[in-house]
Amino acid sequence: MKQISVDLRKRVNKSYDIYIGHHILDRMPPLLARHKWGDRYVVITDETVYELHGKEFVSHLSKAGIPVEILSFPAGEKSKNINILIGLAEKLIGLGCDRGSCLIALGGGVVGDMAGFLASIFMRGIAYLQVPTTLLAQVDSSIGGKTGVDIKEGKNLIGTFHQPRAVFIDTFFLSTLPDEEFKNGLAEIVKYGLIESRGLFQFLEEKREEILSRKAEVLDYAIGESCRIKKNIVELDECEAGIRKVLNFGHTIGHAIERASNYRYPHGHAVSIGILAESRLSEAMGYLDTQVCHRIEQLLADFDLPRRLPPGLTYESILTGIQTDKKKAKGQINFVLLKDIGLPFLRAQVEDELIKNILETLIT
Ligand code: GLY
Repeated sequence: MKQISVDLRKRVNKSYDIYIGHHILDRMPPLLARHKWGDRYVVITDETVYELHGKEFVSHLSKAGIPVEILSFPAGEKSKNINILIGLAEKLIGLGCDRGSCLIALGGGVVGDMAGFLASIFMRGIAYLQVPTTLLAQVDSSIGGKTGVDIKEGKNLIGTFHQPRAVFIDTFFLSTLPDEEFKNGLAEIVKYGLIESRGLFQFLEEKREEILSRKAEVLDYAIGESCRIKKNIVELDECEAGIRKVLNFGHTIGHAIERASNYRYPHGHAVSIGILAESRLSEAMGYLDTQVCHRIEQLLADFDLPRRLPPGLTYESILTGIQTDKKKAKGQINFVLLKDIGLPFLRAQVEDELIKNILETLIT
């Protein structure tokens, strides 16, 4: 028997920069010209963002001499499926795109996940850039390279890790963001404070008014800190083998709430309830000081983020969701718990009875 080894232990440099600021998109054309991420660019967006920003974004790049086209699809999670993705791939072929083309994801999480996934499989992988337009996408989904689509069995069950070549976060986009969508992102920013930074947490406590009135410098700081925390974690564990799991603080119960509501309840709102529930779990298990737990609840209240289960959802349906996840994960769900603000840890064993007791405290 012959044995021939295929040695692929190469180090591939997938590093990239995140640019953050207010009205920074005029800085994009020189960067595109300098880095030559593609010989042509196709913006992927949804119809809502297309109407609000798409035409202006494209004319901005075209005027600077960058060859650019735009494709859009209907807004919303329902579009995050393989059929829409194939439709976009066919359009890219129709436009004559090849391995030298670069996609630009202009939009929220759905657009970023779809465009990233498309870039990872189109002609076996092409470059893409993230231009997130929602607070949630700016602080979370645009960084770290998770891409994917949903199937009827669940969200993000088909996907890849494919890092963007750059992320452009323009806080100007936040001025047109509905309040509900803004809060989706705020819950994630609170999470970053809790898993990594007392300083960020304290900043959020002190700057409540400025954040809620979307003051540019204050948002710049909170977004920048969130991106810094996420990038540090992604650098350590790109493919979520371990430490990246701490980014899921508030999400085990948050996801179960979303699923129990048939994904009608918004992600960040579910995460807010998840943050409170998982803080209370940490307290009940003797890890987290009661005063700190109150402080966390107070910050969520200051931002008017939800702290009680959505009406019509029973705690049993949420518990069922957690148990289903547990079965899928071979009986072991890693809950992220807190010892203090900035001190998270993973804990596999949490009694169902205790989760039930905590969920009962969150019934309206
Ligand atoms: N949203 C969590 C992560 O990117 O790992």
